[in-house]
Amino acid sequence: MADDSVSAGNSTLTVRDNRTGKEYDVPITDGTVHGSDLGKIKTAEDEPGLRLYDPGFVNTASCRSAITFIDGDTGILEYRGYPIDQLAEKSNYLEVAYLLIHGELPSKEEYDSWEHQITFHTFVHENVKGFMQGFRYDAHPMGMLLASVGALSTFYPESRNISDAHLRHIQVVRLIAKMPTLGAWAFRHAQGKPYIYPDNDLGYAANFLSMLFKMSEQKFEADERLVRALEVLFILHADHEQNCSTNAVRSVGSSQVDPYSAVAAGIGALFGPLHGGANEAVLKMLRRIGSVDAIPDFISGVKDGNERLMGFGHRVYKNYDPRAQIIKKAADDVFEVTGVNPLLKIALELEKIALEDEYFVKRKLYPNVDFYSGLIYEALSFPPEMFTVLFAIPRTSGWLAQWLELVDDKEQKIARPQQIYTGERGLDFVSASERWG
Ligand code: CMC
Repeated sequence: MADDSVSAGNSTLTVRDNRTGKEYDVPITDGTVHGSDLGKIKTAEDEPGLRLYDPGFVNTASCRSAITFIDGDTGILEYRGYPIDQLAEKSNYLEVAYLLIHGELPSKEEYDSWEHQITFHTFVHENVKGFMQGFRYDAHPMGMLLASVGALSTFYPESRNISDAHLRHIQVVRLIAKMPTLGAWAFRHAQGKPYIYPDNDLGYAANFLSMLFKMSEQKFEADERLVRALEVLFILHADHEQNCSTNAVRSVGSSQVDPYSAVAAGIGALFGPLHGGANEAVLKMLRRIGSVDAIPDFISGVKDGNERLMGFGHRVYKNYDPRAQIIKKAADDVFEVTGVNPLLKIALELEKIALEDEYFVKRKLYPNVDFYSGLIYEALSFPPEMFTVLFAIPRTSGWLAQWLELVDDKEQKIARPQQIYTGERGLDFVSASERWG
């Protein structure tokens, strides 16, 4: 459609259908046209209307949302209107989770009550432990997390009543509270170590570290700088508007299933290497490159289309990923405690070369949040398989904020995209016995 067909004055789009010569005025609201209005454009009354073909929803808004704002061109990310850098500097994960879920910052009483609720729902039913122990010794922790979160719906059958606001709130608290427990147990499982129960005297991130790393000591005391770095990472990963996993949560949630099943769908989506699995892929890539000298060869491979520079590029950010800048600072803080990760040298050089290379500049490919997060996680002694779990835990508050918004949104319907059918039609079925003789 030519730009001059856009009528700025009256907020409509005038479309001329050259197949019929008919003109249509399509209303423009919030910078969008409604898909169903395009559906009114038809060649004949009994024909299907015009549809949008948009694989990957590259230019399709699927909902209205007041949770997270992103301006990809200028690198802005805000939760409920608050810039990510301010939240990362001055807030903590539980306060940010409250903000995402409730829409505003808590008063002192509200925060204390929220913290108390989350802290006292960290334990899981003993049977959960039983079935987690049944996984194979080398089970990927994301697979274990996905399965155990889905299984929680069987422990809380009342969660299927999603029209009750109080019950919805209880499941939100349970999910945010239990994710670190399940994530830590998936980690311990792979190491053949006993699962550690939550320590409710500790804060959210400190308790998680305790469940991960505690051995025979009475109380696990993590270095405060590492606890803070983990809080910052959790804040940065808490929400990111309509990304692949959030879309999965909303899509599955639109069937009105319980939130455990919807969040399990989100975990499945996050597992993929183009989404949350990217930081695991970054580490593997850096290891494969192996040395600074090997970078030019690797870059040539990327430009020839044989490789992908993991941790670079983003569907939305075409200038820089504001999370990547904050994470670089968090990496310095962590390395101060743990010593520098030797792969950092390769990462820094790779970034330098890529940022100057025309291939990446032309395509607006910059480091994303995952380029450095893997290095931090590795410095914190996490194996690469745990990286996506460390993403899923904080993203749970974002998924749930989006799910709550979906449940209350009167405009939402069950997600059911259209297709362009490309297959055969009207074939006569020949039974197997006739076909095989
Ligand atoms: N390395 C090399 N080339 C790339 C990369 C990359 N990382 N990303 C995009 N390109 C190229 C792509 O080949 C294409 O080139 P051409 O126009 O010649 O065909 C062009 O850039 C546009 O790429 P696209 O695949 O159409 O972009 P997209 O918006 O569909 O994909 C992305 C976004 C994040 C999936 C992609 O950039 C990518 O695969 N990056 C690596 C994986 C990664 O780091 N993912 C983490 C994303 S941030 C965390 C999260 O939110 O999940």
